[in-house]
Amino acid sequence: MTRTLTGLGLAAALTAALTLPALADNPAVEARQGQFKLFAFNVGVLAGMAQGEIEYDADMAQTAADNLYHLTRHDQSRLWPEGTDNESIDNTRALPAIWDDLEGFANRFGALQDAAAAMQGAAGTDLASLQGALGGLGGTCQACHQEFRGPAD
Ligand code: HEC
Repeated sequence: MTRTLTGLGLAAALTAALTLPALADNPAVEARQGQFKLFAFNVGVLAGMAQGEIEYDADMAQTAADNLYHLTRHDQSRLWPEGTDNESIDNTRALPAIWDDLEGFANRFGALQDAAAAMQGAAGTDLASLQGALGGLGGTCQACHQEFRGPAD
């Protein structure tokens, strides 16, 4: 009896180990969502200072802007495989429009890269410079979301 139970337990554990990776989300989808979380984490520091919720600190601001700059240089070519839109799979907000207009999507990403570079040149100067660069940066996030990101579940 004990033997049988142990055997069953082992079998169940093995089955779980073998099937879980197959059931897990697409790694490219998870990676791109992780990338966006890191974007938001660093923009949150900059926006917090711009809005007076975090005391302006030139080093901290520069670090957040440097992080964002480098994060936005991560190569995107393997993060958006075909068939990972929100009509084809669960757990993504990526609209099919991305694959219908890859050039438009890349242009939106390019605008973000330019705005991140502008922020990198401004954030550590002083609070007014940071504030001046934030609107343009946030606008590039928003513009792409409006066009290419679907609603949250
Ligand atoms: C070129 C288009 C584009 C730009 C630019 C962009 N995003 Fe997104 N963002 C998306 C798409 C598409 C998704 C949905 C990804 C998915 O669910 O697979 C997304 C998802 C997110 C998410 C949710 C991540 C999660 O937890 O699933 C956050 C947060 C986010 N973006 C923040 C930002 C911020 C902050 C910026 C600007 C600094 C930004 N995004 C710029 C297209 C963009």
